[in-house]
Amino acid sequence: MNHEQRSREYRAYIESYLKEFYEKIHDQPQKLLIEAMEYSLLGGGKRIRAMLAFEFCRISGRDWRDAAPFAAAMEMIHAYSLIHDDLPCMDNDDFRRGRPTNHRVFGEGIATLAGDALLTDAFLLASRAILPRSDDMARAIGLMAECAGSAGMVGGQVLDILSQERELTEKEVLDIQSRKTGGLIRGACCLGVLAGGGSEAQLQGAARFADGLGLAFQIRDDMLDVLSTREEMGTSVGTDAAKNTFVRLYGLERCEELVKAYTEQAIDALEPFADSGYLAALAESLTERRV
Ligand code: IPE
Ligand code: IPE
Ligand code: MG
Ligand code: MG
Ligand code: MG
Repeated sequence: MNHEQRSREYRAYIESYLKEFYEKIHDQPQKLLIEAMEYSLLGGGKRIRAMLAFEFCRISGRDWRDAAPFAAAMEMIHAYSLIHDDLPCMDNDDFRRGRPTNHRVFGEGIATLAGDALLTDAFLLASRAILPRSDDMARAIGLMAECAGSAGMVGGQVLDILSQERELTEKEVLDIQSRKTGGLIRGACCLGVLAGGGSEAQLQGAARFADGLGLAFQIRDDMLDVLSTREEMGTSVGTDAAKNTFVRLYGLERCEELVKAYTEQAIDALEPFADSGYLAALAESLTERRV
């Protein structure tokens, strides 16, 4: 199977898995909430976090479908983070994935609650995974919380807000980016290894891969805010001007070099895995992404 086919298979599987989850557990009163959750959860997106969880599970030695509860949970946490990120009290964005943002359609109250519910349901779904070593479940749930919470994505978002008030050093910008975006990417990769019953060395390799990829991914995201159009990106562009991004710190050319360097760093970390071709190709392809 070539890389393209594998990506297509992972994407198709996560789309139907997510769809089915809400069909099964919700057919009742809080219809508007579910509609708002599904609007953001099923409304497109590259599904990078799901693909990473699937592939790390596969190359750790198990059927990749075993990682589905974790892959779906990470996409749910990601969807929640985007709903909240777009709110007027945060980035105040009107477009996401080519459509009006969640709060523009459902209002700020429902959008906030849809985010809260996606985060919480993600833990419900993850708790249903069957792991090769059952002791790893507590570890996996802890890891998810760590990557998403105050030490991870939410912590990074806080630093991002504060950063708009003053200039930051390179170290501070790195810290923001690796938490706010690297956090969930790290969660997806490491949970994939746990679902696959991988070794300690593989878990560490996955975390290092995620650190490099997370930085490369966010730097590219910041570049696209300058380089891309709303039609192409599906989100408002040019809205980061007041922020402390890498583009502001170094300019576009240096950012391009940094994306390549962090991607190489990520690929080097795959050493504990015998079959890392797909992940290396995926990381490479993201350096030139337009969306
Ligand atoms: C967007 O993430 C927000 C960042 C962390 C940069 P993605 O670029 O993965 O968003 P979707 O899921 O593909 O829309
Ligand atoms: C958001 O970063 C990362 C999250 C944790 C949600 P951005 O604010 O740069 O993401 P976009 O550009 O809105 O997708
Ligand atoms: Mg933001
Ligand atoms: Mg934003
Ligand atoms: Mg951005």
